[in-house]
Amino acid sequence: PTPLREHARARGMRFGLALRPEDGEDPRTLALVTREADSIVSDRLFKWASIEAERDRPDFTAADALAEEAAARGLGLRGHAGFWYRSIPAWLRPDLADGRANGLIVEHVRAMVARYRGRIFEWDVLNEVIEPDDRQPLGLRAAPFGRAPDLGLYVDCFAAARAADPHARLYLNDYGVECDSDNNAARRTCLLKLVEALKARGAPLDAIGIQSHLATNRRFSARIFRDFLGELAGLGCAIKLTEFDVCDTGVRGDTAARDRAVADYARRFLDAAFDEPRVIGLVAWGVRDGGSWLQQEAWARRADGAPLRPLPFDDAGRRTPLWTAIAASF
Ligand code: XIL
Repeated sequence: PTPLREHARARGMRFGLALRPEDGEDPRTLALVTREADSIVSDRLFKWASIEAERDRPDFTAADALAEEAAARGLGLRGHAGFWYRSIPAWLRPDLADGRANGLIVEHVRAMVARYRGRIFEWDVLNEVIEPDDRQPLGLRAAPFGRAPDLGLYVDCFAAARAADPHARLYLNDYGVECDSDNNAARRTCLLKLVEALKARGAPLDAIGIQSHLATNRRFSARIFRDFLGELAGLGCAIKLTEFDVCDTGVRGDTAARDRAVADYARRFLDAAFDEPRVIGLVAWGVRDGGSWLQQEAWARRADGAPLRPLPFDDAGRRTPLWTAIAASF
């Protein structure tokens, strides 16, 4: 079968896969990834807490090794993530209130982008900074600061990233804007307003990453999602689906029925997304089902305890019906 990256390329898009640290050292996984994808991202290794557990003693060993592996295989490398509230080194926490750590945050983003200049082709500069439920100005997330930071912090992060590597595509990455349930409508409005505000302040923001952690029990409206992507595109942003997987909590039946539900849901989502010409690619958040982060997430657990099948490859590395849905959508 034609690899997914070729299906993507035929549509002018890219296809990537996220690797766990152990995947980057496993020849079989690397062979599969090199066959199917044109790019990779590490699910952990480039996060701040992984790099700088000890203050001023950054350890780039594992991240550098993955960057070398990618280069040797001709795979593009995405950077994930510059600043994420859930990957803050413990030593930074006491300084997070009152903007005292802002300079360190901007410097961290700068240093990461600079180190991998020319080797990382795009960066999630900011990850998950919106949270309308926090009722903070502009819908910014209060964590990890206690209250929302000044927008200037985020403008500065983008400016520092641009200066550090003028050729890297810079993303604002976020979740919970895909569906028609929970607070997704509020999150969409919030993300649009934030993009507008960042651009108005001159932030060099090139693209929006839409995580796309999907669940079959969340209602999906193709029309609403397409309109939303059109609005983002209208603000001058490219769009990538950056952390795609499909959780089937609640779907009953045997494996075949579950796989069908996952594939059908994915197909509706991807068809809507790929209708928007500014969508430039898709990244699946993992390679094989068993390695998915969702297997460890309480909210994603199935009542029958069966493992999820949220990725394009099963545990033996065989293509799943989700693979076929992705190929058909491209
Ligand atoms: C997850 C990884 O998959 C896990 O291995 C890690 O322990 C925690 O982070 N949204 C994101 C990703 O932006 O960084 C998260 O990745 C999944 C949710």
